[in-house]
Amino acid sequence: MGTYGNGRRVAIVAGIRTPFARSGTVFRNLTAIDLGRHCVAELVRRHGLDGSQVDLLVFGTVLASPVAPSVAREVALIPQLGRTVQAHTVGRACASANQAITDAADQIALGHADVAIAGGTESLTNVPILHTKSFSDALVAASKARTLGARLGAFSKVRPKDLVPVAPAIAEPSTGETMGQAAERMAKIHGITREEQDQFALRSHRMAWAGTADGRLTGEIAPYFVPPDGTAISTDNGIREDTSLEQLASLKPVFDRKYGSVTAGNASPLTDGAACVLLMSEDRAKAAGFTPLAYIRSYAYAAVDPADQLLMAPVLAAPLALRRAGLSLKDIDLVEMHEAFAAQVLCNIKGLASREWAARAGFSEPVGEVDRARLNVLGGSVSIGHPFGATGARITTTLCHELARRDGQFGLMTVCAAGGLGFSMVVERE
Ligand SMILES: CC(C)(COP(=O)(O)OP(=O)(O)OC[C@H]1O[C@@H](n2cnc3c(N)ncnc32)[C@H](O)[C@@H]1OP(=O)(O)O)[C@@H](O)C(=O)NCCC(=O)NCCS
Repeated sequence: MGTYGNGRRVAIVAGIRTPFARSGTVFRNLTAIDLGRHCVAELVRRHGLDGSQVDLLVFGTVLASPVAPSVAREVALIPQLGRTVQAHTVGRACASANQAITDAADQIALGHADVAIAGGTESLTNVPILHTKSFSDALVAASKARTLGARLGAFSKVRPKDLVPVAPAIAEPSTGETMGQAAERMAKIHGITREEQDQFALRSHRMAWAGTADGRLTGEIAPYFVPPDGTAISTDNGIREDTSLEQLASLKPVFDRKYGSVTAGNASPLTDGAACVLLMSEDRAKAAGFTPLAYIRSYAYAAVDPADQLLMAPVLAAPLALRRAGLSLKDIDLVEMHEAFAAQVLCNIKGLASREWAARAGFSEPVGEVDRARLNVLGGSVSIGHPFGATGARITTTLCHELARRDGQFGLMTVCAAGGLGFSMVVERE
C-alpha cells in the first residue's frame, strides 16, 4: 500500500458528470454554475447521500465569471447540501478538477474531513468578454465625471478599434503561444505525423462511440433537461460515430495553416460541461455502507518551462506518481491520458519511453512503453470533449469504473495543463 493518506485511505466512492456538449450548442444558455449544480445534485440523489454529512466541496474552473468568481461556493448552495457546506474554488488550468480532488483528498487524509465532493465545471460558451484597455479607461473616467460634458469627453479618445471586444485567448501569457501552436511545435520536434494524429483521433471517436452505445459512458452521465422546453440531453454531442480517416485527412490545419498537422478533428473541441466525484475516508465509506470504486494511492504535480514543450509535464509527473505509489508501469492495468490534442498524447507517450525525458524527470530509467490496449479505452477529450475545469473529474470517474469492470487493480492518469503544468495520479482497487 502506498503511503498517501497518512494511514487514512481516501476512497473514490462515486463519480458523475453532465453530458459534454460542444460550446455554443445545447448548453449555450446554461452557466458553469448551472452545470456544476446539476451534476452535484444528481451525485447526491443517485447515491442517497445525506447532504448534511458533506464536510466540504471543492470545484475547479478556468474561465471564471467575474460576477460569480467562487464557482464552488455557488455550486455548494444547492438545497440538497444546505447552506453550511464550506467550499472553495481552485484553478490549475486543464487539471483544475484534479486539483479539486487532491485538495479535498488532502483534507480527508489530514483528518479535517470525512466526506467531500470535488470536481469542476466550465462553460466555454459563456466566457467573459472584456473591453480593450482604452475603452475600459474611458468607461471608468466617464463614471467619475461630474458633468455631462466631462462624461462625453471621456470617450473623445476612443477609436473604433477600441470597441472591439477582447475574448480570452487560450494563449500563454508568458510566451504568447497558444496550446494549439505548442501541440504543433511538439509534433514537429517528436516527428509525429498528421496521419498518426488522425489515426489517434479516429480511435478516440470509435472507443467513445462504443462506450456510448453500450452504456459504459452514458452510465456516468446525469441527463440534463434543458430549459425552457426540457429537452433531454443524455449523451456527449462531440462524439462522431461516422468520422473516418478520409474526413479527418480533409480538414485544414488550424494553428499552422501552411505546414501544420493539428486540425479541428485531432484537437479537443471547446466544450461545456461539469463533472464531480464523491470522496470519503475509507472508514466513513465502509461505516456508511458505501463500496468504494477505488482509493487514491498517490499523485504528483510537475511543470516544464512554458517556453519549452508546453504540454509535456505529464511525462515528469507520471514517474513521480508511480514512485510515490511504489509501482511501475507494468503494474498498471489501465491508463487514462487527457487528450488535449492527439499530437500531445502521442508526444507524451514518446516522452514516457524516452531516456532523455526520464533524465529530465530525475530518473535513471524511463517509465516505459504505454500499452495502447490499456490506454483511453473509452476514448478521451478529443472525442468526448474538454470543458477545461471538469475534465479531471471525468477521467477519474471513467478510470475507476473501467478498472472495476475489468477487475483491474491499478490505474494511472495524466493531465497536461496550461502554464506547462502536468498532473498524474495512481488509483488502486482493493
Ligand atoms: C481546433 C479548434 C480551433 C477548432 O475550432 P472550430 O473551427 O470551431 O471547430 P469546428 O468544430 O467548427 O470544426 C471545424 C470543421 O471540422 C469538422 N470536424 C471536426 N472534427 C471532425 C471529425 N472528427 N470528423 C470530421 N469532421 C470534423 C467540423 O464538422 C467542421 O466542419 P464544418 O466547418 O464543415 O462545419 C478548437 O476546437 C480549439 O481551439 N481546440 C483546442 C482547444 C484547446 O486549446 N484546448 C486546450 C487544451 S488543454
